[in-house]
Amino acid sequence: MTKLPHTPIPELYISPESAQKLKLDAGNMPSWDLTARQMCDLELLMNGGFNPLTGFLSKADYDGVVDNMRLADGTLWPMPITLDVSEKFAESIEPGQDIALRDPEGVILAVMNVTDNWAPDKALEAEKVFGADDKAHPAVAYLHDTAGKIYLGGPVTGLQSPMHYDFRARRDTPNELRAYFRKLGWRKVVAFQTRNPLHRAHQELTFRAAKECQANLLIHPIVGLTKPGDVDHFTRVRCYEAVLDQYPAATTTMSLLNLAMRMAGPREAVWHGLIRRNHGVTHFIVGRDHAGPGKNSAGEDFYGPYDAQELFREHEAEIGVEMVPFKHMVYVQERAQYEPADEIEEGVTVLNISGTELRRRLREGLEIPEWFSFPDVVKELRRTSPPRDKQGFTVFFTGFSGSGKSTIANAMMVKLMEMGGRPVTLLDGDLVRKHLSSELGFSKEHRDINIRRIGYVASEITKNGGIAICAPIAPYASTRRAVREDIEAFGAFVEVHVATTIEECERRDRKGLYKLAREGKIKEFTGISDPYDVPENPELRLETEGTDVDYCAQQVLLKLESMGLIGSGS
Ligand code: PPS
Repeated sequence: MTKLPHTPIPELYISPESAQKLKLDAGNMPSWDLTARQMCDLELLMNGGFNPLTGFLSKADYDGVVDNMRLADGTLWPMPITLDVSEKFAESIEPGQDIALRDPEGVILAVMNVTDNWAPDKALEAEKVFGADDKAHPAVAYLHDTAGKIYLGGPVTGLQSPMHYDFRARRDTPNELRAYFRKLGWRKVVAFQTRNPLHRAHQELTFRAAKECQANLLIHPIVGLTKPGDVDHFTRVRCYEAVLDQYPAATTTMSLLNLAMRMAGPREAVWHGLIRRNHGVTHFIVGRDHAGPGKNSAGEDFYGPYDAQELFREHEAEIGVEMVPFKHMVYVQERAQYEPADEIEEGVTVLNISGTELRRRLREGLEIPEWFSFPDVVKELRRTSPPRDKQGFTVFFTGFSGSGKSTIANAMMVKLMEMGGRPVTLLDGDLVRKHLSSELGFSKEHRDINIRRIGYVASEITKNGGIAICAPIAPYASTRRAVREDIEAFGAFVEVHVATTIEECERRDRKGLYKLAREGKIKEFTGISDPYDVPENPELRLETEGTDVDYCAQQVLLKLESMGLIGSGS
């Protein structure tokens, strides 16, 4: 008898009554607060997305998966799904003990029976699973810098699914999708995996794939964790919704997949295939450089552009999903249509816009041609990625007490407010010490806390499109670097070194503090009895001696203009 398509697959959830009972017991168990990645993994374990896994991998399964992509019983499974924890937590757990797995709000989602506990060889895992122990690979960086030192393994009992407040109607478990396909009588379904906004090339590719295998189309974007720096999933889903109107509703659907990607190229493609099989899919599109992590630290690609297709092909029968391989799609100007790059004869004009080029055009507010994308998609992207002169940024003045930071910062603020366009906030050293850090002194530890607070507030202002002007002493290069990293996630960080010499500051001694510092009445005074790391590569260095404040502020404005941060519309 042939198996009916889209029959339900096993989940790890128990009945609501049993769950309620177990939840009471679980309140007394040791509990682990799940990381964002573990939340994604647990959801797919519990809802059958990672079928046949029944929990986080045991040591034997892990060894097999790392070594040859197989569980201990020989089943194909290419990705280690492990519960990484701290050494301290691992030490507190006895073998065979049950632990409660909690979401960030403390809600117990599952109980895990810990059968295994080991310290993995992370370098080996990186080599085998990701192809190189190179931190330029985001999953390798995660493995070494974020993941805990110890892995716990064991079966999981599901109590409740993680809560999502966004796009709920668009999220489906494998069984919900299977039921949908069953209801509509969709026997053949081809899935398209994506972590990027969809443009015309993708639409053409998916149309062609559906036509080629005479199947219905499932657009199955990832909304869990993707590659750092990707367009956020809120924006992307709004973009997908805009594109969906271009597809025939009777043959196409879209569902969001809360997967934490690893960007593992070939292994990831096989994993994606298995996950899609669990979601009731029969065909899967694998394009050029599927789940590619970008360049390694030597500037070369981690994987060949079609390695993922090759590995998928090798295991196609076992995956149980047919691959629909696709070459890179490019626009042929003469025929005004998209075609696979390898089918195009010489002599025609081929147009293409790379992801990097698209980001540049968005950043600079340049035109994005109609042949490339849909107006509604471009509109959405522009809303989240406004041009540089509409984005938030931070100007971070650093220098000795009395160097003129506050005075120049104030002048800057007034000039920016005169221009209008974006809200401006001044986080002056003295003001911050009064309103945010009144309990802090001037030890290294306290200064660091103070500067990190300023950095946090400035990053929030930058994120929300404002201009933050900071003017603390900020004597430590490492702290300034950390703040720069926090802020650059959202906008530009312009470091301005107010390079007034300590001798000049002491000569001016506007607050009389240098005198007190010399007399030993103020301890740990920057430049006198405490260090100051001179910025090595600030965006701007201001020599203030013999220059007036207005001229200094002008120099900062010119710098901002040259960086594209202020323009005619600012
Ligand atoms: S830090 O190191 O960045 O946290 O310092 P900051 O918050 O900018 O310091 C602000 C003002 O504190 C006064 N002050 C001292 N500065 C340096 N060292 C010691 N020990 C100290 N004690 C008090 C000083 O006036 C700083 O003011 P500015 O605005 O820089 O002149």
